Amino acid sequence: MPEIKKFPKGFLWGAATSAYQVEGGIENNDWARDPLIAKAGPACDHYHRYVDDFLIAKGLNHNAHRLSLEWSRIEPEKGRWNEQELRHYHHVLSFLKENGFVTFVTLHHFTNPLWFAKEGGWLNKNSTKYFEAFTSKIAQSLGHLIDFWITINEPNVYADMCYRAGIWPPHKRSLLKTYRVYRNMLEAHNRVYEIIHKYYPKTQAGFAQNIAFNEVDGWPNFSMWDVYAVRFIDWMTIGFTYQRTKNDFVGLNHYFHKVFSLSKSKVVNREGKAINRTDKGWEIYPLAIYKVLLKLKKLDLPIYITENGIADSQDLKRADYIHDYLEQVYFAIRHGVDVKGYLYWSLLDNYEWPVKSGDTGYGYKFGLVEVDFNSKALTRRVRESAKVYARICKENGL
Ligand code: BGC
Repeated sequence: MPEIKKFPKGFLWGAATSAYQVEGGIENNDWARDPLIAKAGPACDHYHRYVDDFLIAKGLNHNAHRLSLEWSRIEPEKGRWNEQELRHYHHVLSFLKENGFVTFVTLHHFTNPLWFAKEGGWLNKNSTKYFEAFTSKIAQSLGHLIDFWITINEPNVYADMCYRAGIWPPHKRSLLKTYRVYRNMLEAHNRVYEIIHKYYPKTQAGFAQNIAFNEVDGWPNFSMWDVYAVRFIDWMTIGFTYQRTKNDFVGLNHYFHKVFSLSKSKVVNREGKAINRTDKGWEIYPLAIYKVLLKLKKLDLPIYITENGIADSQDLKRADYIHDYLEQVYFAIRHGVDVKGYLYWSLLDNYEWPVKSGDTGYGYKFGLVEVDFNSKALTRRVRESAKVYARICKENGL
């Protein structure tokens, strides 16, 4: 009998979503009004079907769930609060709590209310002030239902995609702006960290950072620039960022392995092996999560994996992906890294942030649960891989 790889007692198991990607009917944010990008539209209509969706998650033995609040619903105009939407999220979070879920709530997951975007978004010095007001409102109205606060999702990816690459709204391409936005977001995180703790001194707050495993290619396929590039990126995403922020935990979103080869980050065909990829073309390389977790150990904070997952429309690779990444998480725990939870991305097939023109947003299937976007009923179907993950959650081990 192979040994069962047991996770620590109390380990949290679940999945994650974000409002704009699943809820449907969000019209008042910068993504919904962006002329260059396909809209989420009705998405999964999770706004109306959260009960069914959470019951599916419960049936799959999840004991934790991560979701985000849509700021543009709650504060549709500067300083005006929509009490009905607050009541909606009150129902959503109460339902999760009543059904035994530990809640991870993201305050900002890539989308901004239109009024905030029009005032210059995260480049505006007042952005931190606006985010503070929003957070205070959430703390007062929903704070008692929130176990883990994720202030901002991936400030590094947000700043990069929106202000350096120019792919996401507001489509800017400036290194200076990228840096300013990143700095403002970290500052906003610090300020709302204080607000959250003012209301709930013992609660847990952090942010989710997208951290890849970066390495240089083998000799002689690299230059000193590759070495510097890897050091710089790791320093920006980990060293610089965590030195400047207050955190009760590290939220790790992990998807990538990047090999820097003669100054280009690319996936090289190591040892002649064919590279196994997701539908997104991202390399499947489970060791990467182990390497990242070991790098994070020095921060001396509990770690929650707030996202990790695969786009796999045929569901051929997902079960192995989850198993193999979790096995590496297990090894990291054995090597002293304090990992306390794993949230698969995503519970549902959903709107996936477009990265090229013509992308509808619905081509990539990350879900444990398939959603039939061609049917009016948006029918849900639990994938086989979800059942494999359900056994892992139940056993608390592999
Ligand atoms: C984001 C998710 C996204 C996932 C897959 C993460 O960086 O937080 O919203 O769907 O990547 O692309």
